[in-house]
Amino acid sequence: MEKTFLMVKPDGVQRNLIGEIVARFERKGFQLVGAKLMSIPTELAEEHYGEHKERPFFGELVDFITSGPVFAMVWQGENVIATARQMMGATNPKDAAPGTIRGDFGLTVGKNVIHGSDSPTSAEREIGLFFKDTGVVEYSKLV
Ligand code: CMP
Repeated sequence: MEKTFLMVKPDGVQRNLIGEIVARFERKGFQLVGAKLMSIPTELAEEHYGEHKERPFFGELVDFITSGPVFAMVWQGENVIATARQMMGATNPKDAAPGTIRGDFGLTVGKNVIHGSDSPTSAEREIGLFFKDTGVVEYSKLV
């Protein structure tokens, strides 16, 4: 079953949006197979955002994602990687459609509430980074 890594960023956690965001993916029909409220160590943040290392906003990105607790999750389901990205909306909330998470709750590109893997390769890498110690759960075929 396809899996993706999603994370409510520090702004979303501080604004009490965890429940709202989890509810959206639950109602869609996806299954939550991993979740943890955590503070991200700087080294993990730098590795997670490694592809943006040369960007001018890299320092700001790492500072923000380590500024408070995040809610890291693994979700599974048919086509979950692309569908979750659609449900999140455009990276910059000013371009995100109403009805999407960033369209409904985000204001700026830095504080855009949620992160989601953009490809199967990213999903595998990000799940490995954040859930290597705990792993994810499996649901019985009867559920
Ligand atoms: P995310 O999906 O977590 O992946 C990379 C992040 O970089 C992205 O969401 C944005 O929050 C952030 N980002 C992209 N462009 C900018 C920018 N110009 N300034 C600050 N942050 C940015």
